[in-house]
Amino acid sequence: MILANTRQELLEQLADWRQHDDRIALVPTMGNLHAGHLSLVELAREHAERVVVSIFVNPTQFSEDEDYADYPRTLERDTRRLKKPAADLIFVPDVDTMYPFGVKDATTVCVPRITDNFCGASRPGHFDGVTSVVARLFALVQPDVAIFGQKDYQQQLVIRHMSQDLNLPVKIITGETFREKDGLAMSSRNQYLSEEDRAKAPALFKVLSAVGTDLQSGRRNFEELEAKSVAKLSDAGFAVDYFSIRRALNLEIPDRDCDELVVLAAVRLGRARLIDNIVITI
Ligand code: PAJ
Repeated sequence: MILANTRQELLEQLADWRQHDDRIALVPTMGNLHAGHLSLVELAREHAERVVVSIFVNPTQFSEDEDYADYPRTLERDTRRLKKPAADLIFVPDVDTMYPFGVKDATTVCVPRITDNFCGASRPGHFDGVTSVVARLFALVQPDVAIFGQKDYQQQLVIRHMSQDLNLPVKIITGETFREKDGLAMSSRNQYLSEEDRAKAPALFKVLSAVGTDLQSGRRNFEELEAKSVAKLSDAGFAVDYFSIRRALNLEIPDRDCDELVVLAAVRLGRARLIDNIVITI
């Protein structure tokens, strides 16, 4: 496994692989890897001969009051974890490598509309930071495929939109959400939960699943289902940021006969902000 910190180290290795006609998969991450990230690395293996995992805590996707400074940086452990499933190359750039003109003078890639609601509304500027860094990673690595998690449902839609709109020659693949045994979606931010809140946290997936069952059984009173779920979560001690049933394709408000829905939720529990979703195909 190769560790590349600079653009040159990365490009030299990629050129070598391309000479051998190896397909290249990219798994972008911010590190602090858990089994969810590793499941994406495994999925990447199915689609390419070479797997690149990038680890970069991207400053432009955090607002000033968020956890950029405290975000867990665990490179040594991450490198060990990437022995199995194996990454061929770990790209760990610094901020100057990713933003050669500096963060303030950086070109911004901004996807409109689909970024207006949900995490885009709660975290202004967040998706501009995500698309700007992912576009840079795509330009550097020029992967054949790139893997993103369903866990960040809106994020993968935004990246699909950007890639399609800009004709970026990369296939976007979405990997399923990897969960703890009790249903809690794995996330680097779960470690911000107190013991008491950790015990409450699985209720989020339970409430999402209950709505899923209602939708599967033909219920279409979306607003009522949303309101009931918000009440359940509030009663259980969550501060609900959003809980919404939308068209899976584009996050628009669904009509009754929409056959692919996503139920999206974001909540706060103590210091932690948890997001999760389920996709329902009818
Ligand atoms: P990060 O939060 O590190 O997540 C990296 C990738 O792992 C994302 O595609 C995310 O959706 C996926 N992921 C997170 N939890 C998961 C889980 N429980 N199961 C499966 N996949 C999961 O998302 C980011 O970083 C950044 O925004 C990034 C895309 C790297 C741009 O900076």
